[in-house]
Amino acid sequence: MRSRFYSGLFLSIMIAAAVALSACKGSTGQKEGIDDLARRVYVPVGKWDKYYAFLSGGQGGNVLVFGIPSGRLIASIPVFEPRAQYGYAIPGTPSYEMLKSTGPLWGDTHHPAISETNGDYDGRWLFINDKANTRVARIDLTHFETVKIARIPNFQSAHGTAVVPPDTKYLIVDGEFRAEPDPAKGVNVAAYVAGMAFLDPITLETRFEVLVPGNCDINDASKDGRWAFATNYNTEKGLNIEEMIRNDEDAISAIDIPAAEEAIRKGEFVTMGGTKVIDPAKTSKKVLYLVPVPKNPHGCDVSPDGKYVVASGKLSPTVTVIDISKIDKVKNLHDAIVAQPEVGMGPLHTTWDGRGNAYTSLFIDSQIVKWNVAKAVAGDPDYIVDRIDVHYNPGHTYAAMGRTRHPSGDYLLSLNKLSKDMFIPVGPTMPESQELIDISGHKMKMLLNFPAESEPHDAAIMRVSDLAPKVVQVDQPVANAVAEGQSRVERVGPHEVNVYMTAIRSRFGLDSFTVKEGDSVHVTITNIETVRDMTHGFAVEDYGINLALDPGQTRTVTFIADKPGTHWYYCTWFCSALHLEMRGRMLVEAAGQKEPQKEARK
Ligand code: CUA
Repeated sequence: MRSRFYSGLFLSIMIAAAVALSACKGSTGQKEGIDDLARRVYVPVGKWDKYYAFLSGGQGGNVLVFGIPSGRLIASIPVFEPRAQYGYAIPGTPSYEMLKSTGPLWGDTHHPAISETNGDYDGRWLFINDKANTRVARIDLTHFETVKIARIPNFQSAHGTAVVPPDTKYLIVDGEFRAEPDPAKGVNVAAYVAGMAFLDPITLETRFEVLVPGNCDINDASKDGRWAFATNYNTEKGLNIEEMIRNDEDAISAIDIPAAEEAIRKGEFVTMGGTKVIDPAKTSKKVLYLVPVPKNPHGCDVSPDGKYVVASGKLSPTVTVIDISKIDKVKNLHDAIVAQPEVGMGPLHTTWDGRGNAYTSLFIDSQIVKWNVAKAVAGDPDYIVDRIDVHYNPGHTYAAMGRTRHPSGDYLLSLNKLSKDMFIPVGPTMPESQELIDISGHKMKMLLNFPAESEPHDAAIMRVSDLAPKVVQVDQPVANAVAEGQSRVERVGPHEVNVYMTAIRSRFGLDSFTVKEGDSVHVTITNIETVRDMTHGFAVEDYGINLALDPGQTRTVTFIADKPGTHWYYCTWFCSALHLEMRGRMLVEAAGQKEPQKEARK
């Protein structure tokens, strides 16, 4: 009884101590006044943010765009999810066919990657993976729209996503979970594979794959395009957690891209799922190098100078620094490791400021740690520069222009997994917290906390001044565009009708059109506005349809007119003072109706 009392007391003291400790941790210890900090993130009315941060929306299946430094939500781009707002993946539209034909109508986005030209973000495309359904998508940044989705053959779960510099020769996507590539033959543990897929960045067709022993987690590529890297955990090939963490050593897999291309040329591959697959054990030239790193590594990041790839330890308090130039030169791959600095508990991801410093997120310590790469490599014990508390448990961290050859070194985003007491409850699930940190000085400074919808994994931060000129303001007419005065209804078969309409403030080209019950109806609309931002919509009452048409755009929706009667269609984007009047009627004649009903007006 007594001992139980004491153990209870001991526990209370420990909890009190932990609470006091975390309260201490919560203070940022900043001398700067709140007004000064507020000024640093304030973007005056009419001014632009300096950067856009593209955050993966996780199981929301989208990509969120936040302004930096303001933390304002700029856009939410639907990728692996239907979104009526933009008429995206609404049944009857091409985007619906694109999404549906590749898998489920939802996805789990993790790792945004911006296309590069000459080693810098070029603002053409943003790639994003779908971990849940082994897909990848390309967003066209001229419109901020998803234009292509593809499945990755043979693998299960598409995880790490990166482009191969300097000019985006490939999009590399990690196949994480090990599974049999040919499920038609049933469960076959012996045939389980995982690896990395090399995709054409435009068609998203998998050009080839390289098998890797464990689970490919996060990836990156060397700045010269020679190497593709992935952290490789569960080299034990375990099927449960105990088996997955049994060994103290896993690896960074380094794939020699020219050697892999040569293997393909020489026919040293097997064809699986219609794709060329390289088994690195069976090539004449060495394709895969496994650099040993401690226990279940996570983040995989190449330094901006292209010298090092670093693996963040996750279950080890270290970051492993690998000299890329040594990988194919050393006999023992341990010798390619030039430093293994201890940084703190639960290191997950590393990003860069372009001044020789690395920033690693510490999940367990709830910190971002700044450390100097050259000092760590030189064996100088004084390599830790600074630490800052974040709230709480950071996953990814990403500095502005972080994956280019030229990180800008001013802002860093910490994407925190738990917000705990940072916000008032919104149900048992709290918002995710993002924190913006000023990294321009010697010491880091916490500037802003702004929540996001659950649950962003990773970010890519690009300069707005590089992006803005790429965005198309008004689309050029396409082949099937409807010109002014060309709105019409064409019956093309006994049960098929084409409807062509223009949309311009504040009228559709047709005030009404008539179809028969059971008709297959194709409605093609062109927004003939010539000024930017004048979007019109097209929603049909009780038909589950909404299109969004930006200036110059033409869109088509196909549906069966299965509900007779009058169905008003209307514009869903508030476009003018006469927005409410911007509507018309779809008149659906009932199947049994012999004579079209005359409109009786008083
Ligand atoms: Cu067009 Cu509202």
